[in-house]
Amino acid sequence: MRASVVYSVGALISITLSAYSAPLVYASDPRDQVELKTAYRRPSEIPHPDENRYTPEREKLGKTLFFDPRLSVSGFISCGTCHNPAFAWGDGLPRAIGHGMKTLGRRTPTILNLAWAPSLFWDGRADTLEDQALGPIQAPGEMNMPIGDLLARIKSLPEYGPLFELAYPGEGVSQKTIAKAISVYERTVVSGVSPFDQYIAGNERALTASQKRGFALFNGKANCAACHSSWRFTDDSFHDIGVPGEDLGRGAFLEIEELNYAFKTPTLRNVDRRAPFMHDGSEATLMSVIELYDAGGRVRRPTLSDEIKKLGLTSSEKQDLVEFLKALTSVDDPVMVPAAPR
Ligand code: HEC
Ligand code: HEC
Repeated sequence: MRASVVYSVGALISITLSAYSAPLVYASDPRDQVELKTAYRRPSEIPHPDENRYTPEREKLGKTLFFDPRLSVSGFISCGTCHNPAFAWGDGLPRAIGHGMKTLGRRTPTILNLAWAPSLFWDGRADTLEDQALGPIQAPGEMNMPIGDLLARIKSLPEYGPLFELAYPGEGVSQKTIAKAISVYERTVVSGVSPFDQYIAGNERALTASQKRGFALFNGKANCAACHSSWRFTDDSFHDIGVPGEDLGRGAFLEIEELNYAFKTPTLRNVDRRAPFMHDGSEATLMSVIELYDAGGRVRRPTLSDEIKKLGLTSSEKQDLVEFLKALTSVDDPVMVPAAPR
């Protein structure tokens, strides 16, 4: 049993302390190898909810809105300002900078692979992309745009009308259609095929010897897969891993002391393009992240996860882990930013 919690937030907040299934242990037995590789295989399709199915018209409208800075009151902050494809859909900053150049409390997380995510934000306070999308537009610290003004501004741009009509016939320009279109687009933001995926698909030469040792450590001695599991490298759960600071994360949101300092396990896809790391950007490099884990966390608190212990890694093992993390980065096609409707 570990301190972490499997959650489901919604109208009722239900919490289950989970007996966690044992992490996959790397083994030399070829059968176990096959099992291990199966656990990391990419899915072939993006799941879209029935209430908001995918269409190319919806994706186009959502992308246009995502990159349109006129969704902010200042007219210069778009979703893509902070969730920037040039930084693997983060912003490369320790903590986000929003409206009025104010620094926010947390670092911008990537929006990669959120189609599969059961909860959003570092503390998991939103359940669906549709619920989340209007939040940053209205948040005073982020885009600071009152919803009435937003609707008026979009309606004042005649080229938007037909885009909405093609995407959501008869539904018009509304909070709902804006949130739905942005969500459809976000679900299409998926990390591409990385050397690691090629290795999982059977190409033994896709990883270097060091990266293969790193993969073994990741699933074995270093215990990373206890939390960074599945092809997305996250268990979608919340843990205190010993990052210093005052932010209580999941504990503050649910008002449960045992969950203080717990944050959502971030995906490790394309992670080497997203420095600095952690919810507060407090770790500058992947090597310093490995040092944190090797030390069993930087602070010891009663809430520290049972899965975080001193690891006793050698310096070459640390390097192997860093090399392995780099193998999770895909080379993706450049993202084309649509022309802003007039
Ligand atoms: C000023 C920078 C900024 C802007 C602009 C911004 N975001 Fe974010 N975004 C953040 C930060 C910071 C967080 C994490 C907040 C937290 O966890 O408390 C976040 C979290 C998210 C998440 C949750 C990701 C996850 O892994 O849980 C999604 C989805 C998201 N933003 C989408 C959007 C959309 C859509 C827009 C535009 C409507 C937008 N953001 C605008 C900074 C920004
Ligand atoms: C107990 C669960 C757990 C274990 C075990 C674990 N992680 Fe994490 N990992 C997390 C959580 C939770 C965070 C975010 C913590 C925060 O922001 O405060 C994180 C953050 C990270 C980050 C930063 C990613 C980002 O975008 O900021 C990297 C890299 C990382 N872990 C790699 C590893 C490696 C490598 C190992 C094994 C040595 C490992 N993790 C073991 C849960 C875990």
